[in-house]
Amino acid sequence: MVKGQKNQNDDRFIDSLLRPNRWADYIGQEKIKKNLRLILEAAKRRNESSDHLLFYGPAGLGKTTLAVLAAKEIGGNLKTVSGSNLMKTGDLAAVLSDLDGGDILFVDEAHRIGSAAEEMLYSAMDNRKISVMIGKGPSGRLLSIDLPPFTLIAATTRPNLLSSPLRSRFGAAFRLDYYELSDVEEIIKRSAKILKIKILPVAILMISKASRFTPRLANRLLKRCRDFVEVYDHEIIDEKTVSETFNLLEIDALGLEHHDRRLLEIIVKKFKGGPVGINTLSAALGEEKGAIEEVYEPHLVKMGFIQRTPKGRMVSKAAYEHLQLQEE
Ligand code: ADE
Repeated sequence: MVKGQKNQNDDRFIDSLLRPNRWADYIGQEKIKKNLRLILEAAKRRNESSDHLLFYGPAGLGKTTLAVLAAKEIGGNLKTVSGSNLMKTGDLAAVLSDLDGGDILFVDEAHRIGSAAEEMLYSAMDNRKISVMIGKGPSGRLLSIDLPPFTLIAATTRPNLLSSPLRSRFGAAFRLDYYELSDVEEIIKRSAKILKIKILPVAILMISKASRFTPRLANRLLKRCRDFVEVYDHEIIDEKTVSETFNLLEIDALGLEHHDRRLLEIIVKKFKGGPVGINTLSAALGEEKGAIEEVYEPHLVKMGFIQRTPKGRMVSKAAYEHLQLQEE
């Protein structure tokens, strides 16, 4: 066995254990659950396949889980593919022609679908037909294929990268938002119970505060704390377990990681706290502009540590206090 493989497999197995597989177990996102279940129930009563659905929002908030639950509700098979594997029309045609009636096709990372495949998707979504080219050159001909009734569920962290013709073809689009702190606490409690680990309320609170309001991160931190208690033969995850685990992972009490602190520190030290334009910041950090805007910044903005102003990014007073830096 490749070194580290067992651990990874175990981790993935644990992830599947922690994933809610009934609506009743899915904590948070109440409005989305209500709307979604209504759409699915109505389609079921009409004996039709549901409208195509789009889930978007930051990573780790449960888009895949919602697709799994929706498929269960509809009663169809869930077939999953990543948009990055749908570059050419042939890739998509292969996936679509494998669908059975009532299936749910889940396309994750939908913003990565190639443009030719995306165009083919339009007619598949609109009237369940695709045209495929058979043969090449003068002898090539276009074959029209009828598809069975199916529901497309697409998920993306970058909805702005979806073309508007694609976006407009979904019957409903749901934006998943960060979770309430109390919901993250509930999720950690539920996960600890499933993993049969003891954890003190103070430790639950610490993990939730560092989770960036994201269940996947909360569960990841819980698993790392579990490793810690198991290796050191402790009975229960307490305050000390959590703070030592956070130290090892180099994350702080508010879930900031090394790269988050570096970003704030560069604005403070090189640009006197800002404002600094995104291009200048990107050059100073050696990170792509897109990565700063979409990966690093959202959490820092949400925490009130960075303000986006017309003149550029500024570090807030709260960030100086949190990092214990001096204002110049
Ligand atoms: N684990 C991950 N996300 C969850 C959620 N929304 N509810 C319950 N458990 C979860």
